[in-house]
Amino acid sequence: MKRARSILFLVLVGFLAAAEPEKPKGGASKAKAAEAKDNTGLPAPDYLPETARALLRKKMVRHGQDARDLMFGVALLRYDVARAAAQNIAAEPRLERPTAGGEDDPTTFLPERFFVLQDEARMRARAVASAAERKDDKVLAENYGLLMQTCVSCHSAYLKRE
Ligand code: HEC
Repeated sequence: MKRARSILFLVLVGFLAAAEPEKPKGGASKAKAAEAKDNTGLPAPDYLPETARALLRKKMVRHGQDARDLMFGVALLRYDVARAAAQNIAAEPRLERPTAGGEDDPTTFLPERFFVLQDEARMRARAVASAAERKDDKVLAENYGLLMQTCVSCHSAYLKRE
């Protein structure tokens, strides 16, 4: 069951990666690039002011490249690629829980679960990196599945503010 779920996630993420359009080359306009991005990023949450979202998004853009590297690194057992991508994800700077007073601070809008899942993602990314380092394929696949669950959980908590 667990394995089936991991495979499902692999397929899902693979699909998302494949669905992303090619980066526009050369003279393509910025507007076009932004539009392509809008089709691939998360839908906009309805509770978050656009300025706060823009700040958050800026912090999150690296997710995309790391996620693709991780997916292919794990699926194709390219241990170095998988480990590096997992380490990047684990090393991403964390958002702190909001402190009183900062009204412009995007973190004041986020649900508590967001911060919990942020820590969980870090731990699970470390577990993926460690399995890649040990070249333990079974544990690598399982830990990748677990990490993907955390990715989806956080995006869900973020969108639904739960
Ligand atoms: C702590 C919560 C959290 C976790 C954990 C998390 N994300 Fe995200 N992610 C976000 C937020 C917030 C955004 C920005 C959403 C927006 O555009 O409004 C985002 C955006 C993204 C984007 C779109 C980036 C773009 O260019 O618009 C991708 C791809 C992504 N995440 C992948 C992942 C993957 C893969 C994982 C797991 C390894 C992950 N995320 C884990 C919160 C999270």
